[in-house]
Amino acid sequence: MTEHLTIVSHPLVQHKLSIMRNKDTSTAGFRRLLREISLLLAYEVTRGLELTTTRIETPLGPMDAPILDGKKLALISILRAGNGLLDGILELIPAARVGFVGLYRDPETLQPVQYYYKVPAELEDRMVIVVDPMLATGNSSAAAIDLLKKSGARNIAFLCLLAAPEGVARMREAHPDVPIFTAALDEKLNDHGYIVPGLGDAGDRMFGTK
Ligand code: URA
Repeated sequence: MTEHLTIVSHPLVQHKLSIMRNKDTSTAGFRRLLREISLLLAYEVTRGLELTTTRIETPLGPMDAPILDGKKLALISILRAGNGLLDGILELIPAARVGFVGLYRDPETLQPVQYYYKVPAELEDRMVIVVDPMLATGNSSAAAIDLLKKSGARNIAFLCLLAAPEGVARMREAHPDVPIFTAALDEKLNDHGYIVPGLGDAGDRMFGTK
């Protein structure tokens, strides 16, 4: 049975995350670290993938070599900050299919509003990894996963960089079947829905907007 919450405590992940949290880290530095950290997080989230074997010839003879079983993975980015995690993961899993869910958070209600939805076919036969760097209230993530389940997805994992306890609780309540992988579980959300101590607005920090 997979844990509902996995904190990836690898020293490289923790070191890179600390640099990303620092408000003096540049946009270029933040982006580079996000790409690097996403490779390490992807390694962890895909640990349970099923293998099969294929017959190959090495220079020294035949062997049944392990390869990934089943259909290609689907990576689903929650726009726009999810794209920062997506780029790194695609380097590790270049054959993955990719989908996008556009949701913005209404600043008043903090509830998600959908503006875009495009996902790969046959989600029911794929491992689906939903990526969004910040699991804050959990409302957007829970709404995105609702949509994916309506599209047939059954084997879903959620990958983020930082999580707030409120977001983890919301996800546990809405989607107890979806394991969460994160580099850290922070203290709380502030009154504006930001994770504290967090790293600020992940989208702004990776794209250099304000
Ligand atoms: N989204 C962000 O980018 N940062 C937060 O702290 C919370 C949500």
